[in-house]
Amino acid sequence: MMRFLQILGFFLVFLGFGCERAQRFPSPAARKTTTNDPNNGKDEPPPRLSWMEPEPRSGDLPIHFVADRDAEWRQLPGFWTHYPPIPPFFAQPPLAALTSLVWTEQVRAIKIKVPRGLPDPTPNFPPNNPPTYGKWRLGKELFHKPLLRAGDKTFSCASCHVPGTGFTQDERRPPDGRYNTLSLVNVAFNRRQFWDGRVRTLEETLFRSLADERNLTDTESRTLALEQHVWGGFVRALFESDDARLEYQFNLVFGVKHPTQDTVARALATYLRTILSGDSLYDRAEKIRRDRQEPQLTEDHFRELLKEGKAGDFLVEGLAIKARGATLPALIVTGRDLFHGKAKCSQCHAGPLFTDQDYHNIGYRGPEGWPGPGKETGRAVHVPIGLKESRFIGAFRTPSLRNLSRTAPYFHDGSHWLLKNVVEFYDAGVQPTAHLATALRVGGREQQLQLTEAERAALVVFLRTLDGVPPDPIVANK
Ligand code: HEC
Ligand code: HEC
Repeated sequence: MMRFLQILGFFLVFLGFGCERAQRFPSPAARKTTTNDPNNGKDEPPPRLSWMEPEPRSGDLPIHFVADRDAEWRQLPGFWTHYPPIPPFFAQPPLAALTSLVWTEQVRAIKIKVPRGLPDPTPNFPPNNPPTYGKWRLGKELFHKPLLRAGDKTFSCASCHVPGTGFTQDERRPPDGRYNTLSLVNVAFNRRQFWDGRVRTLEETLFRSLADERNLTDTESRTLALEQHVWGGFVRALFESDDARLEYQFNLVFGVKHPTQDTVARALATYLRTILSGDSLYDRAEKIRRDRQEPQLTEDHFRELLKEGKAGDFLVEGLAIKARGATLPALIVTGRDLFHGKAKCSQCHAGPLFTDQDYHNIGYRGPEGWPGPGKETGRAVHVPIGLKESRFIGAFRTPSLRNLSRTAPYFHDGSHWLLKNVVEFYDAGVQPTAHLATALRVGGREQQLQLTEAERAALVVFLRTLDGVPPDPIVANK
């Protein structure tokens, strides 16, 4: 009974608290008269759209990421845990609805159980944008706002980075776009962003300067958005959308009266950092190996998982494997050995994310041939003068190989639809160029791996074992 009264008390306090805050903001109608046209019809963007020192908010909950190497990891019940966790008794209906309200007041942090196999992403976060629940929720909402403009078309982030299909899209690339849409899964681990690494943090992927908020012509906005991934005008559109609830949230989270480029970027980046996928068949086998303190991954580790039906959504049907009767665990292990050995994949696709975070020219000449002098593509364009190296000409970022079954088509131009074709490319399709990555040369020439059909199949099967469990619904669902 005491407990119930306590909960009721919290509930009333919570209600009172909520009402008081809501009064501090004028209604949309009242606001209209004061804001008018933020730009007075001129072409210069108003400075207030850029940034404003956010007031630190004491009520916002920090988000902590706990990786599988941490002893606490096992204790966390799920991907998303209110900390301290809600005791099971109060999490049962009909108390659950009331408890969750009261618990919001009790919770001191959100703990995210980083999916198995992934490292702790926190060291990659800029120290001046620590993750919090308020930013995350706002970021998630902004992700779905259809207020992005490119020419006469409108988009939300989710129109190209579709949550249901690996946060990317099945098209080769957006019409008029320059590059294949990158998946946002595990972006928290990127050292730099985009195929050519032209920006550093996730905060910078949408806007680069205040000038992006100018009133742009259709052609300008199309070029900026689809070629540069600069979604200028978004903050202005938010500002003009007169969404009182959204402004209320901006004030609550950042203490600013309206959205700015800075706060929008912080919120979106926070949300993007929670789009995580791991716990692949490979990660589970690795866990068994570690627990048994065995030096090498073997068929046994995989056999156990496949037998017990713990293989997740690992599907080999339809792959048309011609491996002359080899069992699946044997194929996987052969693929793994080739990946690290004869096929040399791990020279670039290394570490827990299967990328060295570097840029390489892999000798892939697109349908238009090699770009001529002065028209070089890839990383070289964006490396500052004084640091340019010819190996960056036509070089693109080594992509992570986790989740390949959801991120086709492949390569920066989306030219390859099947993993089979990618492997055939590395086997016999690497083209000669002066800028070819060292790892793909043999004796000064482009490599010819001379893999057998069975070996190519084994590599594809191994790549499929790296497919993770899709991002948690709490992140992926709208
Ligand atoms: C019209 C389609 C489209 C829309 C809309 C779009 N993106 Fe992208 N996004 C892309 C493409 C294409 C790339 C790859 C661009 C490149 O590398 O130059 C990309 C790359 C990214 C990257 C870099 C990922 C990496 O691994 O380096 C991030 C982050 C990103 N987008 C976030 C967003 C957010 C947030 C929004 C919404 C505000 C958004 N995108 C809207 C197409 C789109
Ligand atoms: C020299 C470094 C290097 C080596 C060695 C290498 N890769 Fe790559 N890989 C890259 C780079 C860089 C890209 C992106 C190339 C592009 O888009 O132009 C890439 C792209 C890929 C992709 C497409 C991923 C996507 O999301 O688009 C797959 C799959 C892949 N590599 C698998 C392999 C396999 C299998 C091997 C071994 C047979 C291998 N790679 C060897 C650097 C390398």
